[in-house]
Amino acid sequence: MNVFNPIAEPFVPPAPIPRRRANIPGFFEVVRTIMRNPLELWGEPSYEDRWIGTKFLNERSLIVNDPGLIRHVLVENAANYKMGVIRQLILRPILRDGLLTAEGEVWRRSRKAMAPVFTPRQVFGFAETMLACTEAYATHYGEAARTGATRDIARDMTELTFDILSQTLFSGEIVTASGDFASDVENLLHTMGRVDPFDLIKAPPWVPRLTRIKGAKVMKLFRGIVDDTIAKRKGKMTKGADVPDDFLTLLLRQERADGLTREEINDNIITFIGAGHETTARALGWAIYCLANSPSDLRDLENEIDAFFASEIPAPHLWLDRLPKTRAAFEEAMRLYPPAPSINRAAIEDDRYEDLEIKAGTTILMMPWTLHRHRKLWDRPTAFIPSRFWPENRENIDRFQYLPFGVGPRVCIGASFALQEAVIALALLLHRFRFHCTPACKPWPVQKLTTQPDGGLPMTVIFRNVRESPSAASP
Ligand code: HEM
Repeated sequence: MNVFNPIAEPFVPPAPIPRRRANIPGFFEVVRTIMRNPLELWGEPSYEDRWIGTKFLNERSLIVNDPGLIRHVLVENAANYKMGVIRQLILRPILRDGLLTAEGEVWRRSRKAMAPVFTPRQVFGFAETMLACTEAYATHYGEAARTGATRDIARDMTELTFDILSQTLFSGEIVTASGDFASDVENLLHTMGRVDPFDLIKAPPWVPRLTRIKGAKVMKLFRGIVDDTIAKRKGKMTKGADVPDDFLTLLLRQERADGLTREEINDNIITFIGAGHETTARALGWAIYCLANSPSDLRDLENEIDAFFASEIPAPHLWLDRLPKTRAAFEEAMRLYPPAPSINRAAIEDDRYEDLEIKAGTTILMMPWTLHRHRKLWDRPTAFIPSRFWPENRENIDRFQYLPFGVGPRVCIGASFALQEAVIALALLLHRFRFHCTPACKPWPVQKLTTQPDGGLPMTVIFRNVRESPSAASP
């Protein structure tokens, strides 16, 4: 464990206080808490023990915070673990056979089909567009800085990351009729993306979930967006018109017997729209919020960014490597507020790790939320200390104690896309602007698929007094 001794007291951002060991909640309280906010469920043992075996409705679960056991489940013996049942009950009605929820042969075929879009070379190729989208979005902040208007940074980041996703993977051709995609996504997460009591008792998928009835309408809207987007591109392809060489074209070209079915293509478009922007948006919002409350870390970052823009600016695909402190602040925000707070698996056959027996059917909960705040793994686990992730300290962090993107065969396919996008966006925005929390900015972390800031992030923006403008010097 790395021990830090910063001069200033570090910022400790909001999070539920773990329940005392003696305070074990009853059945109905557990159900209520899971429905309201699963992050509030975890007690002290979840932040202190290596693993905890529990039984809920006669089902075995194992909460795992031990890096060795995580390596065992997600890498060494990954073939013995499938996706957790409750996770699938929540996500499959939305994503069906998309890459995130597919299993077995369908997953293998789909992962192979999509891998070419996420090679380093391909991701580097998206960097110019990521910068251009951030440049365009920054005009909203210029306006807010001039008028003193308050912006909800959480919502802004959803719009910005959606724009980046749409322009890179879909060449700007996602057909959205409502024009307010951020609200549609928020609506979808509120309705479809929550645990229903019937999920907890593992009722079969055909039993209607009352919490999702509203979501069915939003789901229809999303499916409509996908159908229209495909129809538009397919129309061009059949006419022999020039089409961009992007993710959408690649997917549509896979529609054949040994490739993907039309349904799998639809499911993957929904999956990539969902998984490809909301996660990054949440992490960017929390990063800006934490930095706004942490003046000395913000100063470190501004110094790095200002020096970077003051000299010859490299091409944007190199920014991630050249701005280690910016990357570190983003990684620290993902430690405290992992966009994917829970990674779940279920054991297929009996297994053993050291002297721990894992029975077939046991649900394994590997939660970045508790793992990243574990008292035996991190110094001052609840404090925002970006220097933990500076290159010189990095080797003190075990590969299996920090899992924002997961690990093993099902590691996030978009991890380098997300990191590159986040560093470009943070560097540009923090070079030009400083963000201040308004008195109403009191976000509470709530797990609704991702780790959302309940109450939003209402902030004001001021221009920073910088001489060099990135757009002037941009390559
Ligand atoms: C900060 C941003 C992101 C975070 C924290 C994140 C997190 C994760 C995690 C933890 C997993 C593994 C889940 C598991 O093992 O059960 C995952 C998988 C996945 N992610 Fe991401 N993700 C991010 C950005 C993206 C982006 C930008 C894309 C696409 C452009 C994407 C697409 C996917 C897909 C398709 C999978 C499923 C991979 C598979 O099962 O083969 N993610 N992500």
